[in-house]
Amino acid sequence: MKKVRIALAGFGTVGTGLAKIIRENEEWIKKRTGAVLIIEKVLVRDISKPRPFVPHPTTTFTTNPAELLEGNPDILVELIGGTSLAYELIKKALEKGISVVTANKALLATRGKELLSLAEEKGVGLYFEASVGGGIPIVETLKESLAGNRITSITGILNGTANYILTQMSQKEWDFSTALAEAQKRGYAEADPTLDIEGIDAAHKLAILIFLAHGVVYPFEKLRVEGITDLSLKDISFAQELGYVFKLIAQVKEKSGYLQAGVFPALLPKNHILAKVDGPYNAILLNGNAVGPIMLYGQGAGDLPTGSAVLADIISLVKNNKQVNNTGFIESPFEPAKILEPLSVVSEHYFRFSVLDKPGVLAALAGVLGEYNISIAQAIQKASPSERAVPVVFLTHRARLKDVKKAIKEIDKFDFIVNPTVHYPILP
Ligand code: NAP
Ligand code: HSE
Repeated sequence: MKKVRIALAGFGTVGTGLAKIIRENEEWIKKRTGAVLIIEKVLVRDISKPRPFVPHPTTTFTTNPAELLEGNPDILVELIGGTSLAYELIKKALEKGISVVTANKALLATRGKELLSLAEEKGVGLYFEASVGGGIPIVETLKESLAGNRITSITGILNGTANYILTQMSQKEWDFSTALAEAQKRGYAEADPTLDIEGIDAAHKLAILIFLAHGVVYPFEKLRVEGITDLSLKDISFAQELGYVFKLIAQVKEKSGYLQAGVFPALLPKNHILAKVDGPYNAILLNGNAVGPIMLYGQGAGDLPTGSAVLADIISLVKNNKQVNNTGFIESPFEPAKILEPLSVVSEHYFRFSVLDKPGVLAALAGVLGEYNISIAQAIQKASPSERAVPVVFLTHRARLKDVKKAIKEIDKFDFIVNPTVHYPILP
């Protein structure tokens, strides 16, 4: 039987997950491919670290990146993360005509254009199903299944760690750091978890989805990116009282050829289709001009779900290695996206003002909002005998983000404002 020789860079959460599936599903993989997959060499940082198992009796471990490609493997699987060594390894493999499978969204979002061009030039595969949505087959869906559609919007929960944290905070009232520590323990978080909680990881994934859905490059630094680090239990609790849940949303909308894109925490009505996506689960809600709405849902992080996506790419390369399909386009379309100013986005909003409880406060708040065309839909004021500041919460009708920001700037100058005003958009 044909042997496919794999060089594996990284044997952490995803690397071990992949190796476990290859071992457990060996017979099944043979049926699918007519081949046996052998992880020949594994690159790690710390050779003395105890490993749960050895992928294959012939596998050797190394800490020397130069050794990884020495035996000219059939496929390089890059699962170390980061944008330095991972970049060097992938580039070297592609230059040698070796196909690559990676889960590295940070690298693809920032240097994908260069690496995909190189793969195209060399006629080899650079596959990245696991880079977005963990186990959810969204990359293949955009490349193949929805290829005939113009995608008008994508709204996703794309970070398992952030979603796990928000779920634990709202359902179990865990504090932020306890929830983050547990997400790290479970293998959901990035090596640097600020990428997860600051929205950067979700933005990396959004940049990849934009490329696959629209065939244009949205410069990463131009994306609006807001994370969940400032979100408090207080706001989560007010949202619940008002019938909403908080989610970290990644969204791109197409309007007459222009794209409006960003990552931000938002309130979703409890009956929203994305509101029930909890824990490490991700979901991607797409609208195609022919197919209409479609939602993909599944585990967005973790060893086996992510390993499943990596293995799908390996199988795809083994079966179709003469006809690779890296981007879903005949030639990778690398034109820059036409961008709609992110602050022009219009939505309903949640405001929490932290104010001194004295006459005229509500009128002053409403007055400034009115000046900026922001109309109040609901209001709550909670008196607290023990605290100097009282929270005042407003839900508004649809308003432009730019106007919201300007109004807050003005409101926060009032002497009755005790803490800076908190504001989040509400998704319909
Ligand atoms: P991880 O658990 O931190 O594992 C990283 C592996 O790479 C470890 O085996 C580590 O070696 C090795 N490594 C790191 N830096 C190295 C270096 N400079 N030289 C040699 N080896 C090095 O990471 P992971 O969670 O598996 O994530 C891997 C990739 O998958 C990342 O790009 C991540 O963004 C992506 N991803 C992860 C998930 C997830 O759920 N975790 C989901 C989707 C995508 P040691 O074992 O010796 O430390
Ligand atoms: N750290 C990422 C997350 C892993 O939590 O979603 C999956 O890409």
